[in-house]
Amino acid sequence: MKFRLLLLFAILSGRCLSQKIQVTPYIQPGNAPTLLHEEKVIIWQTDSLPGFFTVEYGTNKRYNQSATVTSTPLNLQNAHPIIYRAILPNLQFNKQYYYRVKMNGNIVARASLSTRPTTSSSRFVVFGDCGAGSATQAGIAYQTYLQKPQFVLITGDNVYQRGRVSEYLKNYFPYFNAAELSPAKGAPLMSSVPMYVVVGNHDVGAADLDAYPDGLAYFYYYDLPLNAPAFKQTVTAKGKPERVAEFKKATEPRFPNMTNYSFDHGNVHIVCIDANVYMQPFEQEFLNWLENDLKSSKARWKIVNYHHPGFNSSIVHYPQQWMRAISPLFERSGVDLVLNGHVHNYQRSYPLKFAPKLSPTGKPVIDSIGKVDGTFTLDMNFDGKKNTAPKGILYIVTGAGGAGLYDTAFSNKPEKWVHAPEANWVPFTAKFISHQHSFSLVETAGNKLNFKQLDVEGKLIDEITISK
Ligand SMILES: [Fe+2]
Repeated sequence: MKFRLLLLFAILSGRCLSQKIQVTPYIQPGNAPTLLHEEKVIIWQTDSLPGFFTVEYGTNKRYNQSATVTSTPLNLQNAHPIIYRAILPNLQFNKQYYYRVKMNGNIVARASLSTRPTTSSSRFVVFGDCGAGSATQAGIAYQTYLQKPQFVLITGDNVYQRGRVSEYLKNYFPYFNAAELSPAKGAPLMSSVPMYVVVGNHDVGAADLDAYPDGLAYFYYYDLPLNAPAFKQTVTAKGKPERVAEFKKATEPRFPNMTNYSFDHGNVHIVCIDANVYMQPFEQEFLNWLENDLKSSKARWKIVNYHHPGFNSSIVHYPQQWMRAISPLFERSGVDLVLNGHVHNYQRSYPLKFAPKLSPTGKPVIDSIGKVDGTFTLDMNFDGKKNTAPKGILYIVTGAGGAGLYDTAFSNKPEKWVHAPEANWVPFTAKFISHQHSFSLVETAGNKLNFKQLDVEGKLIDEITISK
């Protein structure tokens, strides 16, 4: 009621009151996992003063359709911003749409977006560990924009240090939702390009809402497919019951299910999953959903995105291998490529198959620090150039998106890469670049998938092609 009165007051007052737009409108993929239905969601944020907003859109600049705008006032103790959402429902595939957002009758933002292709191709950028407020993050945002991706996939640790609202305002939106295109400042990427993300450890680092009232901002700022059921093992919001209840009301229906989802885009099916420590040992319902989701997809290419890599040859985070336990599931479900972050550099594995050591009850053994022993089968004949048919899954760490780099002396020095004795020293890593920040560009066309790793100046630093 208080909010409605404020809104009425703001409308009647006209120009006397002026809302401050804290986050300019950007697009999100919405709850559209399959190629049967397409939508986009436009999201923006103001300070605590309600504004009267309208959203108009269409396939040309006559903007002949209007979207319903909803608002969610947040009570973050020291701040009371309002987040607005407008769903553009039932869009046509393979189309360009134009949209504009008006505040109190004045245009405050306009941009265009492309809906998903239903063709046998795709083009997208991947990086992780990015929202650090760094100069390299700006460079990667800039280079990403120049690549004209159809979407951006982030491998987690979207925002440092703890995934809070205040940190998104400082370390994320100014770079990825910048007003201007500049290698030093970032790019107006988010107003036209949807971002799909996963939760890294830093993104759930402020789950105690008493200590961090603006924590778990992942659930405020993204709007992703909601096609996974609620699992028992998931992120938990902690704090006083009334505060947790308020948070859940403001993030309904996204919290906590939006940590696991999948989507189709062109000829690619991508599953994004939560790999945080609370997920293991893995719940059977989660594994059943994951396997069923992957196996039921008819897409030409199947990709899985999660934060914590099972196969990593850095010293940093080396023991955190629990995702290795899922490798057999990926292998029998036809996964081609796994994309990870968490480790702040670039690593590409040989195509590999991994059989984890099993307990007497038949479950993969994950030790107390996360290590998983097992048997590797490597395809060392694959070079991605002359031999492009991999026998196994390629595991790629692309976590050099802006945060401080790890093991910077390891670039192209295989003698330094960690392949520890519990894995019989198997040298599963084929390429390792850690002295510079970088991002990945993936392009699919029919039976070919081309993967490039590019640095902050857009220079090619690694490239492979996979074919079927
Ligand atoms: Fe991480």
